[in-house]
Amino acid sequence: MQMGLEGKVVVITGASTGLGRGIAIKLATEGAKIVVGDLSEATNPAGFDEEPTLSTTQLISRLGGEALFQQCDVTRRGDLASLIEAATQRFGRLDIMINNAGVYRDGKLIHEFEEEDLDFCLNVNVKGSFFGAQEAVKAFLRQGDGGNIINMVSTAGLQGHPWQSVYNISKGAQANLTRCLAIEYGHEGIRVNGICPTYAKTALTRALTDDPDYQDAFSESIPLKRWGEIADVADLAVFLASERSSYIHGALVRIDGGETLCRYSV
Ligand SMILES: NC(=O)c1ccc[n+]([C@@H]2O[C@H](COP(=O)([O-])OP(=O)(O)OC[C@H]3O[C@@H](n4cnc5c(N)ncnc54)[C@H](O)[C@@H]3O)[C@@H](O)[C@H]2O)c1
Repeated sequence: MQMGLEGKVVVITGASTGLGRGIAIKLATEGAKIVVGDLSEATNPAGFDEEPTLSTTQLISRLGGEALFQQCDVTRRGDLASLIEAATQRFGRLDIMINNAGVYRDGKLIHEFEEEDLDFCLNVNVKGSFFGAQEAVKAFLRQGDGGNIINMVSTAGLQGHPWQSVYNISKGAQANLTRCLAIEYGHEGIRVNGICPTYAKTALTRALTDDPDYQDAFSESIPLKRWGEIADVADLAVFLASERSSYIHGALVRIDGGETLCRYSV
């Protein structure tokens, strides 16, 4: 299927490793020009990345694509403004903004979490995607010909899960940010959607995948009986980035092996 992404300029946060890296590489193989913003350029050794000794930009170059890395802390609005500026300076414009950078905390009940746990998740997951969306919208409005924003949410933004309330709260906020953006900017031709994966194997979930009991119990509890893979999520991101999904707007698309249907399947 032709995805029509040739020459499109994509800014993606948190794409040095994990889901963001997988999305960046897949978009690059579709011909998109990629700008990666992350705290550092190296992959996370705890992750499941292909070719982990190569940075995302190095791997894209090796595949014949074009990519740029710029250091960016998404909790700082100025860093996101600079990231988008870097994209427009190097590639001339911005077409697609993917707010992917995110952090996770778990293992405590609500009354046990510290304020710092909550601040950490809210700052990166909520403020980070809010600032990213703000700066992308400004660029899209300046350009005057629409745009596309994809927020990396989670099934944790659609329902509650025990022992990870600080993460769930932040992802719930991101889900509503997605809806608000879709309502406010659809008439400008700016399409906005959220991706809601269940557990996929990345550094973020390493502690859970390293626990064989948990790994098996999780697979067993959902209808498709397996964890998500980086490639599963990347395929969905490519579809939402492309005009093949041109009438999908304000959607929070589940990519979860049926997790949100029921956790006790046959
Ligand atoms: N892996 C999963 O099971 C899963 C499931 C649902 C949703 N998600 C979401 O997908 C996104 C990516 O997660 P992942 O699993 O690839 O995690 P990961 O830990 O492998 O990668 C996260 C990336 O975000 C970057 N990052 C963290 N804080 C940042 C900041 N302040 N500024 C810029 N970059 C920052 C990290 O450096 C890293 O490169 C997150 O938003 C996460 O919540 C993941």
